[in-house]
Amino acid sequence: MGRYTFFWILLCIILPLQAQQETPYLQKQGNATQLIINNTPFLVLGGELGNSSAASVEDIEQIFPKLQRMGLNTVLVPAYWDLTEPAEGTYDFTLTNEVIRLARENHLKVIFLWFGAWKNSMSCYAPLWFKQDYEKYPRARTKAGKPLEIASAFSENVFQADRRAFTQWLRHIATIDQEEGTVIMIQIQNEIGMLEDARDYSEEANRIFDSPVPRELIKYLQKNRKTLHPQMLEKWEANGCKTSGNWQEIFGADLYTDELFMAWHYARYVEKFAQAARMIHNVPLFVNAAMNSRGRKPGEYPSAGPLAHLIDIWHCAAPNIDFLAPDLYDDGVVDWTAQYKLHNNPLFIPEIRLADNNGVRAFYVFGEHDAIGFSPFSIEHGSDDSSSPLVKAYACLRELMPLLTKYQGKGLTNGLLFDQEYKERVLERDDLKIYARHYFTLPWDSRATDGSKWSEAGGLILQLGEYEYLLAGSGVVVEFEKGGENRAGRISLGEDGFASAGGGNMQEELWNEDFRIGIGSVDEVGIEEDGTFRYVRRLNGDQTHQGRHVRIPVDDFSILHIKLYKYR
Ligand code: DGJ
Repeated sequence: MGRYTFFWILLCIILPLQAQQETPYLQKQGNATQLIINNTPFLVLGGELGNSSAASVEDIEQIFPKLQRMGLNTVLVPAYWDLTEPAEGTYDFTLTNEVIRLARENHLKVIFLWFGAWKNSMSCYAPLWFKQDYEKYPRARTKAGKPLEIASAFSENVFQADRRAFTQWLRHIATIDQEEGTVIMIQIQNEIGMLEDARDYSEEANRIFDSPVPRELIKYLQKNRKTLHPQMLEKWEANGCKTSGNWQEIFGADLYTDELFMAWHYARYVEKFAQAARMIHNVPLFVNAAMNSRGRKPGEYPSAGPLAHLIDIWHCAAPNIDFLAPDLYDDGVVDWTAQYKLHNNPLFIPEIRLADNNGVRAFYVFGEHDAIGFSPFSIEHGSDDSSSPLVKAYACLRELMPLLTKYQGKGLTNGLLFDQEYKERVLERDDLKIYARHYFTLPWDSRATDGSKWSEAGGLILQLGEYEYLLAGSGVVVEFEKGGENRAGRISLGEDGFASAGGGNMQEELWNEDFRIGIGSVDEVGIEEDGTFRYVRRLNGDQTHQGRHVRIPVDDFSILHIKLYKYR
């Protein structure tokens, strides 16, 4: 064979291999779990479509270009069982094809949500042929025996029908998306959960409820005793840490035990989907949950879903699910996100109520929790105006991505999130105290004191080296100080540097610190794809209160590169 022919053959082998994208996967870096796409860590700057917004080709065509203008890099899109399998065994992938085509055209990645047997507890997305054949596809029942519009998780027929549709659909995706890799993750079902009662009381469910708790779960509890969720541990211990018996014998006879039992079986069902998916198209898989943010009892909220207090049950029963994800609609974002970022669960927020504070919250979760992604719900109703907070926030975060992913999991970032009650956070880094506050703690903007409700403010702070930081976000002011500095005699200064109150009442100051810390420079920067800075402008004088602090006003989003120095 001539040299030319040899190289030609080699090229024919290599080129198709290169064209094929690597399937996305998750990988640990320090304490973070990163989503890797084409060998590069990726942060999902996402948005989820409203429930009925991907049900027509025209809607998809209209919405997707707007998402690109908003600066999203990923869209979360429902895939509806009823429209995918309108007649039993007949499949229609028109909508899925259209989503993938439009996503590619608009440079978006896709996370599909399988709206199969369960959507917010209910089985409203099951096809009519399934719903009508209630004898073959039985319903969950309340204690009184009332059938619900919730397919029973204990029915093999329900499972087989749902899984067959899911796997046919996934096979189709694997075929059309193997090369481009537009679909990066899949959510299985949506906000699974039991309602009206804490568990299913169908005949089959009752029978299984009275049988022994699976050995697997007992072994898991024993093995992971030290790291169990406190509620799980308490429930097991309260009944003497028994290692055999039925659900009530081991965990006690109450609604919370009913919920554990139900969670196990929902998770088992999903696990079998996940196992099937691994064989067909091995992208990361997750499940989402409605938070019990209103303190309801099991049965009064979608119970037994992948909730934080059930994380051990879900992890044990569904090991092929990569993570459990919270949907955040009520207050308490700081608390809920902390409950889901665990040593064994990375944080991904598939849904958060669409609101003006989404921008700062996105910064918070990436900075504080090394999140994989963030995604306001009903995103097509958001603004694509370049002045809207989310558009500005995503533009900044897109630039920050190479740096954030480089430093993820190494303990070098913090998230900041402030409102009118929670105004200040003190961080310790280097030998410094870093006082980060809401911008309106500076009373110089009239909105700080005129009775207006303070808008949420936030961002992230990343330590790049000794005395070198990045501050990014909106509505924050940060002061740096050497650890032991005495703040007691400090006078409050106005914007012009004059003491806020005159009259010679200053306290005598004690000085006991050798070095002080000063601001060397503050540069507003952009960030190139390789992580290097692009100079935008130097901020000094009035913009740093003559070198006293670093700040980003409430309506701006920016990235500031800060260098500090020591003096005495
Ligand atoms: C959470 C669900 O997951 C979404 O599909 C949607 O129903 C929202 N709630 C509320 O509109």
